Amino acid sequence: MLSGHMKWRYATKKFDPAAKVSEAELQELLLNIQLAPTSYGLQPFKVIDVRTPALRAQIREAAIGQPQTTEGSHLLVFAVRTDLDSAAVAQFIDLAAKTRGVSRETLAQRETHIQGAVNKLIPSERIIWAQKQAYLALGVLVSAAAQMQIDICPMEGFDRSQVDKILGLTEQGLASTVFAVIGHRASDDPTAGLAKVRKSTNQLFMTV
Ligand SMILES: Cc1cc2nc3c(=O)[nH]c(=O)nc-3n(C[C@H](O)[C@H](O)[C@H](O)COP(=O)(O)O)c2cc1C
Repeated sequence: MLSGHMKWRYATKKFDPAAKVSEAELQELLLNIQLAPTSYGLQPFKVIDVRTPALRAQIREAAIGQPQTTEGSHLLVFAVRTDLDSAAVAQFIDLAAKTRGVSRETLAQRETHIQGAVNKLIPSERIIWAQKQAYLALGVLVSAAAQMQIDICPMEGFDRSQVDKILGLTEQGLASTVFAVIGHRASDDPTAGLAKVRKSTNQLFMTV
């Protein structure tokens, strides 16, 4: 059953700090983020693997002390680009031309179309649009991790401006959006066995 791994997963509250995710597993998870779909393929975000213990301790403070931030094996911070503009679209078209071995001119119509989609948005709307892409990649990551029997706690319970300061994101044209703490559940996590609270299929789905 494909949904089996989604039944196994839960937003892990208590990680086993000794149970590390291997480098190979981490790379596999990152590959899933890299391969996640995004609007036009722009991937307007960066994922930061925060390994420095002192930074993780500061981030824990900025996340109302939530222990997952320091006890999970890895803390990934999804940060969106705050400067999604014509230059960013041009960079994407450059990459597409190079990757597919076609001339830039053959992609001119595509570039104009994407530029139009970006330019019609005011800066704050561009950030919201970028955040949507980051959340989608987070969803792909959650599902991939569950298939690998790796636990995740997705988190947005943190002060974004504080995290931006801790990681020096603003000056890099980035803004923190959401976290994924990755690791393995502690054997005594009391929340692991809780029944899933979910809307019924009738409430959640409709056919027209
Ligand atoms: C975007 C997002 C942000 C979340 N933020 C937090 C958080 O800051 N701390 C936390 O413990 N859980 C957080 N959660 C976990 C949710 O509370 C959890 O996914 C939800 O209650 C459903 O439970 P389940 O994932 O265990 O099935 C977050 C989940 C998502 C998707």
